[in-house]
Amino acid sequence: MEKTFLMVKPDGVQRNVIGEIVARFEKKGYHLVGAKLMQIPTELAEEHYGEHKERPFFGELVEFITSGPVFAMVWEGENVILTARQMMGATNPKDAASGTIRGDFAVTVGKNMIHGSDSAESAEREIGLFFKEEELVSYEKTMNNWVN
Ligand code: GTP
Ligand code: MG
Repeated sequence: MEKTFLMVKPDGVQRNVIGEIVARFEKKGYHLVGAKLMQIPTELAEEHYGEHKERPFFGELVEFITSGPVFAMVWEGENVILTARQMMGATNPKDAASGTIRGDFAVTVGKNMIHGSDSAESAEREIGLFFKEEELVSYEKTMNNWVN
């Protein structure tokens, strides 16, 4: 089954919305297979956001994501990579539709509450960066029969 890496950023942890964000994915019908509260070391942040190394905001981005704890998660489900991105909303909260996480909870692009993998390749890479294999739990829910 498809998996994606989602992370409540430091602004989301500080603003006490971990639960609300988790609830959205639970209610949608996705399946949580790994989660942890963690402080990201600078080297991991630089690797995670490596594709943005040349961008003018890279320093700011790494500084922000390492500024406080994040809530890192792996979610599983049909089309979860794309659908989670739709549930997150546009990168810049000013363009994010109401009803999306960024549209409902965030104001500026630098503090946009949540990260989500943008492709199957990114998901695999990011899950590997943040989680050891034994930290991911495989289990069945009878509810799955009512979702798929
Ligand atoms: P992520 O899920 O966090 O990767 O966001 P995204 O895939 O929607 O956007 P992208 O990968 O292009 O950018 C990564 C992150 O960099 C964004 O989520 C923003 O928080 C941040 N970012 C993007 N553009 C800017 C900018 O112009 N200024 C600042 N300060 N941050 C930016
Ligand atoms: Mg991205």
